[in-house]
Amino acid sequence: MQSVIVNNLSKSYGKKKEIKAVKEISFEVSKGELFGIIGPDGAGKTSLFRMLTTLLLPDAGNAAVDGSDVVKNYKDIRKKVGYMPGRFSLYQDLSVEENLNFFATIFNTTVQHNYDLIKDIYVQIEPFKTRKAGKLSGGMKQKLALSCALIHRPVVLFLDEPTTGVDAVSRKEFWEMLKHLKQQGITILVSTPYMDEAGLCDRIGLMQQGKILSVGTPAEITGAFKETILGVKSNNMYQLLKDLNANDEVEDAYSFGEYHHTVMKPNFNKETLQQYLEQKGNKELVIQNTQPTVEDSFMQLMKQ
Ligand SMILES: Nc1ncnc2c1ncn2[C@@H]1O[C@H](COP(=O)(O)OP(=O)(O)O)[C@@H](O)[C@H]1O
Ligand SMILES: [Mg+2]
Repeated sequence: MQSVIVNNLSKSYGKKKEIKAVKEISFEVSKGELFGIIGPDGAGKTSLFRMLTTLLLPDAGNAAVDGSDVVKNYKDIRKKVGYMPGRFSLYQDLSVEENLNFFATIFNTTVQHNYDLIKDIYVQIEPFKTRKAGKLSGGMKQKLALSCALIHRPVVLFLDEPTTGVDAVSRKEFWEMLKHLKQQGITILVSTPYMDEAGLCDRIGLMQQGKILSVGTPAEITGAFKETILGVKSNNMYQLLKDLNANDEVEDAYSFGEYHHTVMKPNFNKETLQQYLEQKGNKELVIQNTQPTVEDSFMQLMKQ
């Protein structure tokens, strides 16, 4: 069964609707799936999530969450979904336990009633339960915000950039928590600008300038990348990048960690490339084949 169905959804802002934030997006998410919307700042992720959680009206198209239409049945959806906005939704002047009680109360439930669902997450912040939310670290705020978004036992959880601005350890812990929630049957939609989080999702949608460029498992998305990618480095990475992009056999080159990822045109010759780069003055050259990552796929799709 499909948990989320999005059909040609669109949203524009401005007096003349000149800012097209979401452009005729369609995709579906199955029940129990962990689905990632991956895209840079301004891609339209928040606008999309706000429409799916009934906080923003679409201009065109339609969407259903757990069988309810986001416009016609908005009241049903508000009971069924959990939403963790990008910037923390917590009451900074309330303590940890007061925040949690508040969110339970507005959904007509109690913390005790649903404690089993948040237990694994909440025990980590429980020692600080009397501390004001505003005085928590980023990682702890994130855990509290997630607990608050879960306290009414939603069937679909929307997490808008939950790991932005959070340290690497907390990020890792957060994804572990999502795995546990998924095992409890909750459908999770999570947005992130971090490409390295793509591999932690069951399926992802790559989003850019209001459009979904591609949807699939991370393996399907990288599997669709057919060109050869070479990882190239030398003693002068800045000059190397210029040289690579000036070469006729190179489709595209961009820096990627320690190497420049270099997408080659068909029928390229590695020896010719090596000679060319040496002749340009590059020393300590390393040229090796690399597997495409989601980031490479994204780079390629963005250029089409
Ligand atoms: N309330 C608003 N009024 C005008 N423009 C907006 C508003 N909200 C978002 N935008 C614009 O819409 C585009 C998509 O924004 P957003 O949905 O926040 O993307 P993301 O969450 O991926 O960064 C951006 O160009 C942004 O500047
Ligand atoms: Mg956003």
